[in-house]
Amino acid sequence: MASISHIQRDWPQDADAILSANNQRPPMSLRVNGQQFSREAYLAELMATNITAIADPISPSGLRLTSPTQVSQLPAFHTGGVSVQDTAAQLAAGLLDPQPGDRVLDACAAPGGKTMHLLEYEPDIAELVALDIDETRLKKVNENLQRLGKTDKTRLLTGDASKPDMWWDQKAFNRILLDAPCSALGVIRRHPDIKRLRQADDIPALATRQAQLLKAMWPLLAKGGYMLYATCSVMKIENEYCIEAFIRQTEDAHPVTIPATWGRASGHGRQILPGESDMDGFFYALIQKASE
Ligand SMILES: C[S@@+](CC[C@H](N)C(=O)[O-])C[C@H]1O[C@@H](n2cnc3c(N)ncnc32)[C@H](O)[C@@H]1O
Repeated sequence: MASISHIQRDWPQDADAILSANNQRPPMSLRVNGQQFSREAYLAELMATNITAIADPISPSGLRLTSPTQVSQLPAFHTGGVSVQDTAAQLAAGLLDPQPGDRVLDACAAPGGKTMHLLEYEPDIAELVALDIDETRLKKVNENLQRLGKTDKTRLLTGDASKPDMWWDQKAFNRILLDAPCSALGVIRRHPDIKRLRQADDIPALATRQAQLLKAMWPLLAKGGYMLYATCSVMKIENEYCIEAFIRQTEDAHPVTIPATWGRASGHGRQILPGESDMDGFFYALIQKASE
């Protein structure tokens, strides 16, 4: 399996822990929609239906179920009161921190977990454009938004983020989430097939794609705006090194240090290794565009 040697090379001290975490069963984590419930109120709803959970130690809107259950059993699931999402993925909205009146781009949006969270996090954003290259996957975003009942501020677009000339209306975005396609080596515990499917050649090819996406998205960001780059990978070529090269090549791009207790600093970003605080493996880097 190509991925073992890659993990051992990038994380020699942590490789055993990563490989062991990849074989563990992940918790079923929930994100409570703060527009509908406080976390405590939702916890009480769960208890009333005999579902036990604990408050997530990392994500302020998160809960972890003691044992997995059908989503249809979760109170208010069908009305967008709660969604299933790993803790690590729940960190994106708070890191991007959209403000009232912002125009936001979710550049690789499907199936829409983070799209929904951005809308829950700041309902007074001006507009959220949810883009994905895959029209079929984009339908999933639409289904999720219907569940939330919030479709008025969201524009769904099928398009290639690396070719904005094909779909961009030339109006800058204040915030961009680039949740890039990646090797997914941080989420093997949820998708064990990745062990078998991931080929050694995929990783440099993905890194090239990620660099293209960063470069293509940058002109769409308003001066002073923020881009959050995310992957569910643990490969430095897709994460730390990719961002390092982008910052080096982009004069008006300034990395913002993420002040966090979770994960570890990795170059200009922050890396969560699989199983740390029982989270999926994830990488985040926040970049600000110079104001002048
Ligand atoms: C990691 S997933 C996104 C997960 C999503 N942000 C969420 O939280 O539910 C990456 C997505 O990028 C999309 N994608 C891949 N290449 C793309 C491109 N060039 N332009 C736009 N979307 C792309 C894939 O179809 C896939 O849905």
